[in-house]
Amino acid sequence: MSAALINLAYLLAVVLFIVGLKGLSHPRTAVRGNQLGALGMFIAVVATLLDRQILSFEWIVLGVVVGALVGTVMALRVPMTAMPQMVAILNGFGGAASALVAGASIVESALPEVMPPAPLSQLMPAAAASGIIGAVTFWGSLIAFAKLQGLISENPLQVSFLHYINGILLLTAVVLSVMLSLHPTQLGYYWAILAIASVVGLLLVIPIGGADMPVVIALLNSYSGLAAAATGFVLNNNALIITGSLVGASGVILTTIMCRAMNRSLRNVLFGVWVPSEAGPKADDVYAGKVKAAAPDDVAMLLEGARFVVIVPGYGMAVAQAQHAVRDLMQILEQQGATVEFAIHPVAGRMPGHMNVLLAEADVPYDRLKEMDEINPRLEQVDVAIIIGANDVVNPLARTDPNSPIAGMPILDVDKARSVVVIKRSLSPGFAGIPNPLFAADNTLMLFADAREGVQQIINALKAK
Ligand code: TAP
Repeated sequence: MSAALINLAYLLAVVLFIVGLKGLSHPRTAVRGNQLGALGMFIAVVATLLDRQILSFEWIVLGVVVGALVGTVMALRVPMTAMPQMVAILNGFGGAASALVAGASIVESALPEVMPPAPLSQLMPAAAASGIIGAVTFWGSLIAFAKLQGLISENPLQVSFLHYINGILLLTAVVLSVMLSLHPTQLGYYWAILAIASVVGLLLVIPIGGADMPVVIALLNSYSGLAAAATGFVLNNNALIITGSLVGASGVILTTIMCRAMNRSLRNVLFGVWVPSEAGPKADDVYAGKVKAAAPDDVAMLLEGARFVVIVPGYGMAVAQAQHAVRDLMQILEQQGATVEFAIHPVAGRMPGHMNVLLAEADVPYDRLKEMDEINPRLEQVDVAIIIGANDVVNPLARTDPNSPIAGMPILDVDKARSVVVIKRSLSPGFAGIPNPLFAADNTLMLFADAREGVQQIINALKAK
């Protein structure tokens, strides 16, 4: 196939990626966006296979079969709550693949019978960049996976000099990259770069607490894109350069959105050790004598007269897999004539879009899902706000206590609703480890139950009326 046709195919693939990404920005167009992206990837893969003359297709077919099998089993078996670590491991593999392809290209470029895909003055620095970013991504992602999977301790570590060690190691890797570019036949430099970058990847993520891992994973996702873009320069492949850059940019945007929604800086996530605060009010002071426990019947009675109900899902809904029961509750309330909307906080749960994905899985129409900025001004008109396994994202201390670890974090102002019902198992804190005055507010009723069981009990009580 001529170079012009290959490049045309790549251009088409890249256009499909960009249009597909645009589609992902809204639930209505997301499925189509995904399909367009997949079509783009198919075209890019076919064009690449046709572009190369010397290929052993047996290895490629074997790789596709093994990869498809492992991927299918993983995707079918992983529970929604374990999705962050699944994404982490996939990012890691992306980084490793980039570093390995870059290494293979260096080895290949030394063979007299092979024409390097790019001039060595481009290939070597790009391979070094791919090796550094790819190895950091792989090892960092493995640690993120191990922390979230409970294979190693999730606790954050306070080791201040670690950042200096990382800085020195990175500088060494850059110096070795220059050496590799000056002496392209010295493959040893590349292995040294990989070894050093691997240590940086480990040291970068080990001190970060498990709770901050979703942000780290979004950042590593961006790194995996940058590694792929660098490999695109190694292979002189325009599609890979553009695709890697798209992944790199979207990962950074996602990281920024998450940090902003938690009112934290990226620097603070990466280098500050974030532990549950000892400062601020104690749980006993906040709750003693003020918490009102309710039975499902009480909640049903409250809901019977409600015209406008807002449901706030949180991490507990994901843990309890309560989304289907929540959808049933929505339908029953709507049959009674109430308007039901879902208030979605950008960092509810443990990964971006966590609640949207769960509710979509339960076929909750996406026009009922309202983002924080849209629903907050209307919460004063709400008759009953039902909080299902959410805690930090509705904690008014974020507005009132400047010393709180969540101070300044934008929250859903559900305390302004006429009545609030909170379904959770106990008064245990959420991710931030702090008490929540909302649970002790005059207009709040606590239904102490597992989210799925609690919602089901309310449904039964409503049906029995
Ligand atoms: P959290 O504040 O973590 O609170 C979750 C609550 O769910 C807990 O208080 C827990 O109380 C309850 N729960 C757990 N299992 C339950 C079950 N089976 N049934 C009922 N309730 C259950 O959750 P949130 O409000 O969604 O806030 C998310 C937090 O995670 C924020 O602080 C956010 O900054 C952080 N975070 C989010 C992300 C992303 S991207 N989403 C990333 C990093 C960090 P009980 O044990 O009493 O039941």
